[in-house]
Amino acid sequence: MQAAKAFVDKHRRRRQSNKVLHGHPSPVHWVEQSVPMDALLLARERTNREIPKRVNLYVGTPYCLPTDPDRCGFCLFPTEIYTGQQQLEEYLTHLEREGDLFRDHFAGAELASIYFGGGTSNLYKPHQYPRLMEIVGGVFDIPPDIEITLEGIPQTFSHDKLLAMKQCGMNRISMGVQQLDEELIKASGRRQRADQVFRTLESCKQLDLPISIDLIFGWPNQTVEQMVRDLEAVAATGVAHITHYELNLAGRTDFARNRRGELPSIEGNLEMYRVGKSVLEACGYRQVTPYDFERRDAAVPSGYLYEELFRKPFASSATGPIGFDAWGWGYAGISFFFGTPRSPGWAFMNQVRVDEYFRCLRERRYPVMRGFHYTPQDLRLHLLFQEMQGLAVDRIAYRDLLDRDVVDEHAVVWRALEETGWVTVSDDALRVQDDGVFYLPLIQNMLAHDRLEEMRRHRSADGAAPTPAAEAPADVPAPA
Ligand SMILES: C[S@@+](CC[C@H](N)C(=O)[O-])C[C@H]1O[C@@H](n2cnc3c(N)ncnc32)[C@H](O)[C@@H]1O
Ligand code: SF4
Repeated sequence: MQAAKAFVDKHRRRRQSNKVLHGHPSPVHWVEQSVPMDALLLARERTNREIPKRVNLYVGTPYCLPTDPDRCGFCLFPTEIYTGQQQLEEYLTHLEREGDLFRDHFAGAELASIYFGGGTSNLYKPHQYPRLMEIVGGVFDIPPDIEITLEGIPQTFSHDKLLAMKQCGMNRISMGVQQLDEELIKASGRRQRADQVFRTLESCKQLDLPISIDLIFGWPNQTVEQMVRDLEAVAATGVAHITHYELNLAGRTDFARNRRGELPSIEGNLEMYRVGKSVLEACGYRQVTPYDFERRDAAVPSGYLYEELFRKPFASSATGPIGFDAWGWGYAGISFFFGTPRSPGWAFMNQVRVDEYFRCLRERRYPVMRGFHYTPQDLRLHLLFQEMQGLAVDRIAYRDLLDRDVVDEHAVVWRALEETGWVTVSDDALRVQDDGVFYLPLIQNMLAHDRLEEMRRHRSADGAAPTPAAEAPADVPAPA
């Protein structure tokens, strides 16, 4: 207990690394380079008979407009610089080839939702959106009523493109705005203007296309006043969903290398989080995750099914448990093929260099770069992390699925967090509250601390993470 409280005290004053996208463990621990795809897919077929799975599909596009500084100054996603339409045509041909490799495996699989992300998925010309849908249709039957989202940046949306997207069945847009303030946008080198944001919102309204907006707070030299101005301007449009991320600072990005001294302090970021949340709530939004806010009275619901299913890969239905595998199709795609809680399966990541991605596909090989073989303990941590993004953990559902009580499992951590006021525990649920929501990455690090230490200690010379013998997964053999 004392150690847990000391952990909180030590880490609350440190910049947190953001774990929102990948759960446990972060991809730095996905070090197995020979992911046994054939065995893995066979195991997926076998375990799907035990827990039927739908597919939550992500389709990536690698390219981004050049910026100075590069990668918009802050971006940690793998991307390549866009030089022209020829690249997109070549990419689509290879995407199709990857689909060919998986077609038989996914025959008859039911799609739950589709997300076209990136990189920048709105660099395509209007005639290429139906082609994207045809490529997906070459592998899956696309049900008429599922959520189909396309993510892009303000300056490359146009009314014609949005119309083409809508006509081929895309029914949700996600726009990465990050900032409206001209000075701050300039720091990221993005050639983007606020009027392009509002024009896109207006087109979506005319076309009856739901849209969500991503903003980031905690930029170099950003003030609370600038942040509030952006939030109020965006909220005033009535947009159904606003994502308000804290800047995640890492790697060799310009902001991490050259602008650290200009960033708000940790206390400054906490203040921005608190003010941002109360401004959005005052504007009619409710908080859904540490960074997602949806309008309480939206005429068109905000959707967000793709993200929700990503957070909840297992659910219960009238016929028993069902699951949602995430397939990341394309360059840098990330897949989670969970088996069952007792034989948990794999996460793997596709090649993050386009030439390597293309080369694998020319040679008819799966374009997989590396992966992680889950143990039952890792799967429990992953599901707990994802569930906590929704700010509450259902103890009964956790016990039904995983055969143990989540409070008993991490009793010391919860007691320390209850004392800090960040978590409440009741008979049926654990709830994250107050500043605990801002500090969720810290809480997750505490929960996974021992397991992460174990992985670090045991990482062998070839970089493979160990599988504790007591909890060796039973689904596919670990690579030699
Ligand atoms: C994969 S990015 C791509 C979206 C699109 N290309 C764009 O630039 O808006 C998806 C979202 O992740 C968020 N993001 C990317 N890098 C981030 C970082 N370092 N810190 C916080 N959020 C980040 C941004 O809000 C972005 O909209
Ligand atoms: S923020 Fe978006 S546009 Fe900028 S580099 Fe990252 S993916 Fe590309």
